[in-house]
Amino acid sequence: MLRIDDLHVTYGGTRAVAGVTLTVDQGQTVLLIGANGAGKSSLINAVIGLAKISQGKIMFDGHDIGSMSSDARARLGIGYSPEGRRVFASMTVKDNVLAGAVTLNGREQVRSWDKLVASFPFLAERQAQAAGELSGGQQQLVAIARAMSGRPKLLLLDEPFLGLAPVWIQQISIAVRQMQQDGITVLMTEQMARPALKLAHSGHIMRGGLIRRSGAVHEIKGAALAEEYL
Ligand SMILES: Nc1ncnc2c1ncn2[C@@H]1O[C@H](COP(=O)(O)OP(=O)(O)OP(=O)(O)O)[C@@H](O)[C@H]1O
Ligand SMILES: [Mg+2]
Repeated sequence: MLRIDDLHVTYGGTRAVAGVTLTVDQGQTVLLIGANGAGKSSLINAVIGLAKISQGKIMFDGHDIGSMSSDARARLGIGYSPEGRRVFASMTVKDNVLAGAVTLNGREQVRSWDKLVASFPFLAERQAQAAGELSGGQQQLVAIARAMSGRPKLLLLDEPFLGLAPVWIQQISIAVRQMQQDGITVLMTEQMARPALKLAHSGHIMRGGLIRRSGAVHEIKGAALAEEYL
């Protein structure tokens, strides 16, 4: 479904991603583990079109997307939840969530909202409240619900657990499992290896813009947990 080939992302003199090749198969959840500055966000941002590729190729669903606009990539079926619970603070919870569903028609939007509310009742309870007034965990869930609301084929989650209490890590894990049940393919990054490993099928350990180790979850678990404390 997603095929990244020899990807390079450079900012000025910084080589954030220095030649990464990986694939994410349909229905799989793939984890990118790495400490601060490993290049995880740069890779995710390159896939959604927020970071410019300096070399390499990104294929999604048979399309060469590397030079497409972010909008065009979203329309092809890529959803994205950015690092750091970015919500539109002054917009309501409902408008935040539906901002991810602009490519759907009105009826599909209603269906998408109803489905998300069935899983996360707090979205309905707080729908008219400004998203900036929510707790950190709630905001992160709104950001993920926004990414889910467009019913993407591939979901990019950049550090969904960052800075969250265990109760919210659990809620977000439930959201990810639901997406998996719906057949959504997931590429997620995390520094917190422990909860992330429970969700993934396979993973890659990144450091210094490169993949240092790859494998099924049971194969990389030890190395991933060691990386967590770097
Ligand atoms: N917009 C930018 N301009 C310049 N340098 C950047 C930019 N974004 C990231 N970098 C640099 O690229 C490298 C990789 O950063 P990146 O954000 O991709 O890492 P990360 O693995 O997501 O880290 P974290 O876990 O802290 O989010 C770092 O050296 C970082 O300082
Ligand atoms: Mg990051």
